[in-house]
Amino acid sequence: MTARGRSGNFSCMTPRYVINPFCRQSPDWPSSITEEFRDCRAGIVHRSMAHYSETPLVPLDGLALELGAGRLMVKDESYRFGLNAFKALGSAYAMYKFITRQLSGGSSADKRAGQFYLNPPIEPGEFTFCTATDGNHGRGVAWVARLLKQKAIIYLPEETAPSRIENIKAEGAEVIAVSGSYDSAVDRCREDAERNGWSIIADTGWTGYEQIPRWIQAGYLTMFEEVQRQWSERPDVVFIQSGVGALAATAAWYYHRAYPEPPPKLICVEPLTADCCLQSIKSEEGEPMTIDDNPSSIMAGLNCGTPSPVAWPFIKQGYAMFAAITDRAGREAMRTFYHPKGGDPRIVSGESGAAGLAALMTIMSDPAFKDAREFLKLDKDSRVLLINTEGDTDPEGFRVIVG
Ligand SMILES: Cc1ncc(COP(=O)(O)O)c(C=O)c1O
Repeated sequence: MTARGRSGNFSCMTPRYVINPFCRQSPDWPSSITEEFRDCRAGIVHRSMAHYSETPLVPLDGLALELGAGRLMVKDESYRFGLNAFKALGSAYAMYKFITRQLSGGSSADKRAGQFYLNPPIEPGEFTFCTATDGNHGRGVAWVARLLKQKAIIYLPEETAPSRIENIKAEGAEVIAVSGSYDSAVDRCREDAERNGWSIIADTGWTGYEQIPRWIQAGYLTMFEEVQRQWSERPDVVFIQSGVGALAATAAWYYHRAYPEPPPKLICVEPLTADCCLQSIKSEEGEPMTIDDNPSSIMAGLNCGTPSPVAWPFIKQGYAMFAAITDRAGREAMRTFYHPKGGDPRIVSGESGAAGLAALMTIMSDPAFKDAREFLKLDKDSRVLLINTEGDTDPEGFRVIVG
């Protein structure tokens, strides 16, 4: 159970930040929760997939100069698997782990890591996979299910942009629209899966459901391993946008391991109207909180009311700062990516994809963030990493925003 609390104060739509009192330079994560990261072989699984190639890491020198940062690099996940978002990294690895475990009666089956997608060891239609999503994770699960010739049922909030629904249907999945928020879609998916014996591939967890979200988090490691191959320097500040926090958890584990002394400063970025991680870190014990207000940002992938309890221990000790940003800043960041200055390359970034840049621009320009800027030592010497987690996954909305 998570505590409940009001996000509050967003009626005035002022961006805000919290410096994390629980952050540790050397987190004491128990080995029981780090095992899947430590033993992860997602890179081998992903590299064996026909659609795999490294996504670009793009330097934006002109924008860095304009903002007053030293070096600005953007990992562009809009190129991931031709799916326009990073999410299938998680489902491809988790579904490989899930199926091989089922087939081997629980033993580790990593010997097949590089073979699994070349020659899937299951008959068509053996499994029915389901999940709840704001769009991108569901498309990832549906895509992997199609590769494996299995059935997928995807639950979405009924307000989901039509193009995101169509993309999931195009993978051959059944789509169920649920009234209410993403969190209502999770509840409905759980109920139906239990009744029908379907296999849930969720990126968030709950009591008794932890293994699959851990595999999903491990699957995202591939992205950060690619960054390290592409950029020999250590980033000083890394912005990670968060919905349920699975990606944020992976970044925490990765950067505290890759550069322990000291790790880069990690910033968890959320929309003002769905700032469940910021509210959780502000609570007395720093434990996961459910925000009561209906998350309603344009950043659909980040519209979550509760951090995943599987992700939370990594976020709690791993992040230096939490920032909640406005939709307006998100739109401006999308336009900045799309209409570059100073000879920078163009980046197509969707509402959730641009959240990291929106936070960086807010921190660098808003007088209320002066102390945050100083705390992060963001200046002309800093090396900053952003993740463009999605491209134009809602092309109509994208056109309206970028013009
Ligand atoms: C484009 C995009 N970025 C970021 C996120 C946040 O990821 P997580 O839910 O793992 O925090 C999502 C989640 O769906 C997403 O779709």
